[in-house]
Amino acid sequence: MTDARAWLAENVAGITVSAIKEMAMRAAPLDDVASLTWGLPSFQTPAYIRAAVKNLLDSDPELGMYSLPDGLPSLRRAAAAAHEAATGIAVDPDRNVTITAGNMQGLNALFHTLLNPGDEIIVTDPGFASHFQQIRLCRGVPVFWPLDAAQGWQLDPEALPGLITPRTKAIVLVSPSNPTGKIFSEAKLRRVGEIARQHDVKILLDDPYSHFCYENRDSYFNLSSVPELADSLIYLFTFSKAYAMTGWRIGYMILPEAVKKEVLKVHDATLICAPRVSQLAALTALTEEPVHLKEFEGVLARRRALICERLDRLPHVFDYHKPEGAYYVFPRIVAQHGNAHDFCIDVLEKTHVTLTPGAAFGPSGEHHLRMAYCVADEVIDTAFDRLEKLFGV
Ligand SMILES: Cc1ncc(COP(=O)(O)O)c(C=O)c1O
Repeated sequence: MTDARAWLAENVAGITVSAIKEMAMRAAPLDDVASLTWGLPSFQTPAYIRAAVKNLLDSDPELGMYSLPDGLPSLRRAAAAAHEAATGIAVDPDRNVTITAGNMQGLNALFHTLLNPGDEIIVTDPGFASHFQQIRLCRGVPVFWPLDAAQGWQLDPEALPGLITPRTKAIVLVSPSNPTGKIFSEAKLRRVGEIARQHDVKILLDDPYSHFCYENRDSYFNLSSVPELADSLIYLFTFSKAYAMTGWRIGYMILPEAVKKEVLKVHDATLICAPRVSQLAALTALTEEPVHLKEFEGVLARRRALICERLDRLPHVFDYHKPEGAYYVFPRIVAQHGNAHDFCIDVLEKTHVTLTPGAAFGPSGEHHLRMAYCVADEVIDTAFDRLEKLFGV
């Protein structure tokens, strides 16, 4: 008899749907769920972006067509200008910019470009679960780089050289971090840059959250502003979170010319180009005043205060560091429990509250869980009312 799974590629058999989606799917048949699982902001795409696209639907005869594989020249120019304004680094729209269908697609193209089977990518632990899965899909190996829990999940650059091997291709960084909300310090980031350069390893800087730094804006540092890293760093920006455009699937990469040339082969072979309508929406986002940003950040700051206040009332259940940026908090479970996954399933079954088990974000995440506070205030309140009922106050 043939193996029932003979049709299945090993790299696909070796990965799972992320714990975030697993929890969302488990919750789907239940009534009245309060979800703190998915990092999907409650905001609508800003009105000025929607209005511009509405006009283009009637007026632009090319709206439904492909663009060049690396994206519309006008959007690449706008992305280069936005990058220079944010970092002080001038980049060439033709040689250094590629428009992506969001950071997940950009990273997927990069991992395909960098990885031979068995090659290694260093990822922070905890880090973003989908990075690990993408690396495995490309037959690479995610190498976990434990963050310093005692320092609120700060980077520990001195542990990095010990993880680098002849097979290491790149290090992935996200700041502010998903899932911890930590903003990595300038000094630590610069040190990582130096180590990467010494070892000829690329840095992939995945940036969905830099617009959400609250009162910690001054401690945010964009590592792509270091001129010496021009040949080794790839910066990925997504419109998903800052512009509430998760469903438009649009972002851009700033990358060295030699890397762009190679990535473009993968991008063209797998996607052709990012959706043109989304590229035009992104062009509006970059060329109009981003009036919504202050409002988004204000609402998220309020929700962060709310979730921290509610966590403070459950010190016998959770211990946590106040998140500095993004919109996640990553508490340690101090209540009696086996592992974080079973804890989350138990909470879901008893209260219809969804939480994401921390082990999904790397081995250091065990006994933690991630809560996303980008949801409506009432959802946060409902979830914590139920948790208080379950655990007592
Ligand atoms: C660290 C990180 N990278 C990438 C993404 C996805 O970005 P995009 O929607 O641009 O694919 C997310 C979404 O939660 C994220 O947290």
